[in-house]
Amino acid sequence: MTDRYAVFGHPIAHSKSPLIHSLFAAATGQSLEYTAIEAPLDGFAATIAAFRDQGGLGANVTLPFKLQAFELATDPAESARLAGAANALKFDGDRIWAENFDGVGLVNDIQRNLGTALAGKRVLICGAGGATRGAVLPIAQQSPALLAIANRTAETAHQLARDFDGLAQLQTGGYEALAGETFDVVINATSAGLSQASLPLPAGVFARGALAYEMVYGKGLTPFLLQAQAAGVERVADGVGMLVEQAAEAFAWWRGVRPDTQPVIQRLTVPLV
Ligand code: ATR
Repeated sequence: MTDRYAVFGHPIAHSKSPLIHSLFAAATGQSLEYTAIEAPLDGFAATIAAFRDQGGLGANVTLPFKLQAFELATDPAESARLAGAANALKFDGDRIWAENFDGVGLVNDIQRNLGTALAGKRVLICGAGGATRGAVLPIAQQSPALLAIANRTAETAHQLARDFDGLAQLQTGGYEALAGETFDVVINATSAGLSQASLPLPAGVFARGALAYEMVYGKGLTPFLLQAQAAGVERVADGVGMLVEQAAEAFAWWRGVRPDTQPVIQRLTVPLV
């Protein structure tokens, strides 16, 4: 029987994960089937259960089910526990192992693909939701000089810092608190771009030579990236590399073989114009 994997979301039709994983499988000589499955909004657990009954071995999980995926897990990894969300599951008998590879995918993209070591850098994450929670620990583990989190609702950022107390030292606040500070890496982990909104970042927040990173992918120059360019930033990136890198982590976790991400990133990259 073919080894089966799938990505679950709602909607899911535009997911790039089946393409990414079939390219990985072809490149590594692994025999598997990877499909996209749309779960009803009120039927995530039942859809996963049916997939497991049919012999499914693993899943990726995307919006809006990442929190439910974590709750289903019998064995959540620290990455999933800290994020309160899972984006990858592995099924083994009665056990459901859960991981959250978004943060490590982001770090691998910034450091390996974009050639920006985070050690000693001043790093700012905009937003304090699930995407930020997944990114905090992998970034903190690279020993940046400073990891700051700015959020429209400052209290949400402060709460996040309390939740990570003892694991990561964070500077948190609203956007206005960033006045007079500069950062080498500025990451947009908000959903503001989805509604074409820009962020109230003070002028001068981008250091000379800064990298502006938009976690969303395939949307071209988002308001955040345009904002960065207008401030003189030359190095802008969207989340296509993060998407492929988190997929590679899941693939290696399931199959024990690490695929080369470069050709897949090249294939999926939409020029930022
Ligand atoms: P995700 O799981 O993708 O992180 P989320 O948990 O809903 O999604 O978080 C969305 C984030 O985007 C939050 O940090 C939110 O800020 P608030 O906590 O103040 O709501 C941020 N966000 C969404 N729209 C925004 C906007 N127009 N301007 C600034 N921040 C915005």
